[in-house]
Amino acid sequence: MKTIVVYYSNKGSNKYLAERISKSLSCEMEEIKPRLNVFFLFLMNMHLGIKPLKHIINEYDRVILCGPIWMGKFIPPLRSFVNKYFSKINKLVFVTCCGSMYAKKDEKFGHGLVFNEVVSILKEKCVLCQAFPIGIVLPDDHKDDTDAFMKTHLNDDNFKGEMLERYERFILELNKLS
Ligand SMILES: Cc1cc2nc3c(=O)[nH]c(=O)nc-3n(C[C@H](O)[C@H](O)[C@H](O)COP(=O)(O)O)c2cc1C
Repeated sequence: MKTIVVYYSNKGSNKYLAERISKSLSCEMEEIKPRLNVFFLFLMNMHLGIKPLKHIINEYDRVILCGPIWMGKFIPPLRSFVNKYFSKINKLVFVTCCGSMYAKKDEKFGHGLVFNEVVSILKEKCVLCQAFPIGIVLPDDHKDDTDAFMKTHLNDDNFKGEMLERYERFILELNKLS
């Protein structure tokens, strides 16, 4: 299955995850570049769309879209990508390194609500959604500590233990889908 990883990242965790997935699957990768990359405008849902991608999206059987969740939203750079390339996307997997843990995924700022939104936009094109909450790499007593997870970013030193196990299961699932 010809796959491309397309990502947006502000602080680097989703870039790290995208690079890792692209290496594991030996597939190509491209960054989504907003026309105006102003974080606080995104938080207010204000944006000017994204620059055209270099890769030709309909040449890929599967797009793995990777990016953060802010304020419980499917953020503008990711949404713009889906809107712009909707007709060219064959299958899509959405993956996020986010703040919300699995137990809180259906709460106001949880990743589960964003997954529902992604599925409602992409319908049967969306084959899988997967979250890697940053809290997984934090010690047990800091897993729900907002300050701690805001300051923590994925890297080779903390991508181990439960995070690595979940990641390896995710890669197996991706390979099974092909
Ligand atoms: C302003 C702001 C709002 C956020 N809101 C949410 C949220 O609603 N739900 C969530 O799961 N994570 C939330 N997060 C956590 C981000 O999803 C997380 O920090 C993410 O890993 C950042 O990705 P990046 O390093 O690729 O930019 C928020 C982070 C910021 C900075």
